[in-house]
Amino acid sequence: MCRLKEEIATADTYDLSVIIPTFNEEENIAAIIGAVNEVFRQSGIRGEVLVVDDSSKDRTIGIVEEIAGQNGNVRLIVRKDDHGLSQSVVEGFGKARSDILQVIDADFSHPPELIPRFYEAVRDGADIAIGSRYMKGGDIEQWPLKRRVISLGATAFGRVLFPEVTDPVSGFFAVRREVVAGAPLAPRGYKILMEVLGRGRWHSFVEIPFVFKDREEGTSKLRLDTMMDYLRQCAGIARFTGTRRAGPVWDEWVKIVRFGLVGLSGIFVNMGLLYALTEIAGLYYLVSAAIAIELSIVNNFIWNDVWTFKSSRDLRFGRRIQRFLSFQAVSVGGLAINMVVLYLLADIAGVYYLVANLVGIFVAFAWNYMVNRHFTWKTR
Ligand code: GDD
Ligand code: MN
Repeated sequence: MCRLKEEIATADTYDLSVIIPTFNEEENIAAIIGAVNEVFRQSGIRGEVLVVDDSSKDRTIGIVEEIAGQNGNVRLIVRKDDHGLSQSVVEGFGKARSDILQVIDADFSHPPELIPRFYEAVRDGADIAIGSRYMKGGDIEQWPLKRRVISLGATAFGRVLFPEVTDPVSGFFAVRREVVAGAPLAPRGYKILMEVLGRGRWHSFVEIPFVFKDREEGTSKLRLDTMMDYLRQCAGIARFTGTRRAGPVWDEWVKIVRFGLVGLSGIFVNMGLLYALTEIAGLYYLVSAAIAIELSIVNNFIWNDVWTFKSSRDLRFGRRIQRFLSFQAVSVGGLAINMVVLYLLADIAGVYYLVANLVGIFVAFAWNYMVNRHFTWKTR
């Protein structure tokens, strides 16, 4: 009875829980906890700090125990099995004592001064607030080229699942408790945010730009098997989405597939007209081709407007014309991209031209989809 009372009391004592996963962070942990507590003091947020450690071999545990002894709002969880960053964060979600959960690295890669912005975003209605390195205002400092390339690759992959999110693999985010409580998260690897996006119950998110600074102390634990885990995780989320057939990820895939089918219909229109105009109307084949291409663009626009993106269209005539012009420009850009990729691969890299063209079509498709999705039929 007494214990229950205490739990209820602590539940509304905190506005925010800051979860810091750690593994061998003796150089950083005291400073990051100090910085987070300073942010709490300055912003007036009543916050707790939850360090989730995977049995560090260095002095991390001892340091945190000491700080926890002096600060009532600091807690340490030492994990013994199922070692892993994502697993640790999920354990932190479960043990947090507030309704808004913030995740931040221990190594100052994520600026703690921004915590109040994440907190306010979720308090004011967003289900998830994501710190983004890849939107305007965001950046990465001090990363070697190799890491940048790997990260961009991982991000590109993640964006296939979450095209709206510029940085779906960010480790700096805040989430409303209901999004993750009871959600069938299957955490593994480094990309816990992907899991939250893929299996959490959310409707809205905001992104907050930040500059990622590489750690000055200690070493990153990113390895090859981390990347394999990531690919497996993407596949798992895709499968989950496929069986549930609902939610933002599913909606996006429905759009991608429709966009692809519309593209196929355009090929039939194009070929059919090329044949008819040349053989039946007797036009010179290049003239027929120009007309056929243009009419296939019109065909594709109409289907995409009434079908693929029907949820995000504005019925006013002027807007429709605007969308058409935008679609037209994007399509011309796509044709150019297709040709450039074909030329580069076939002529310079020596790839067989039909294979090169397939790659070109794929790149152009990705371009067409992304740009049309975000500009021509933008939702916000
Ligand atoms: N509990 C626990 N268990 N914590 C871990 C583990 C683990 O197995 N591995 C790493 N951590 C902690 C680190 O102590 C640090 O606080 C944080 O997780 C990030 O680890 P780093 O090793 O510094 O990661 P990074 O800098 O390579 O990766 C960062 O960028 C990624 C995006 O590119 C992190 O922010 C990732 O979360 C993020 O996905
Ligand atoms: Mn780091």
